[in-house]
Amino acid sequence: MEPDERLLRAARARPGAARVLHGSAEHIPLPDASVDVVHARFAYFFPSEGFSPQPGLDEVARVLRPGGRLVVIDNDHEVGEFAQLLAASAPAAAQGRGSSPTRWWAERGAQTVSVLSGWQFQSRRDSSGCCTWSSPRSWHRGGWMSIRGGWA
Ligand SMILES: C[S@@+](CC[C@H](N)C(=O)[O-])C[C@H]1O[C@@H](n2cnc3c(N)ncnc32)[C@H](O)[C@@H]1O
Repeated sequence: MEPDERLLRAARARPGAARVLHGSAEHIPLPDASVDVVHARFAYFFPSEGFSPQPGLDEVARVLRPGGRLVVIDNDHEVGEFAQLLAASAPAAAQGRGSSPTRWWAERGAQTVSVLSGWQFQSRRDSSGCCTWSSPRSWHRGGWMSIRGGWA
């Protein structure tokens, strides 16, 4: 499911048999109790001081069948180098900080499983391209990346 018209077209153009619906976490175009699993990866479910994804959670509860599951994949803001990187970024704070996202989910009865992963690149050029694209400049020049031996 995708709310953005341009990304919706791109998703529908991809190979495979998946049906891509136009909708959002808060407005899922499916009937009550019609879904076994809802899976959201790095999309909408980012509890923070300034944002509660409760409307989306209520909507997921509406469409899930009894016994159904919601599986959310989000960044870890507490453990690992990427958590340090996020903490160094003001824009990333809008998507949670420290233990607050984990607490938000625990208060709603969710279980959190920590999965440590890493990035590996074929070349410095690839890593530079990816990280420059997906992170603010302040992380690079004189910031977190250069301290870690990344970009000078
Ligand atoms: C960082 S991308 C992640 C895309 C994909 N899930 C992945 O892991 O590669 C965030 C996606 O969430 C979508 N999104 C933003 N707001 C949303 C909402 N309220 N409900 C559902 N999806 C939303 C964006 O349009 C975008 O496709």
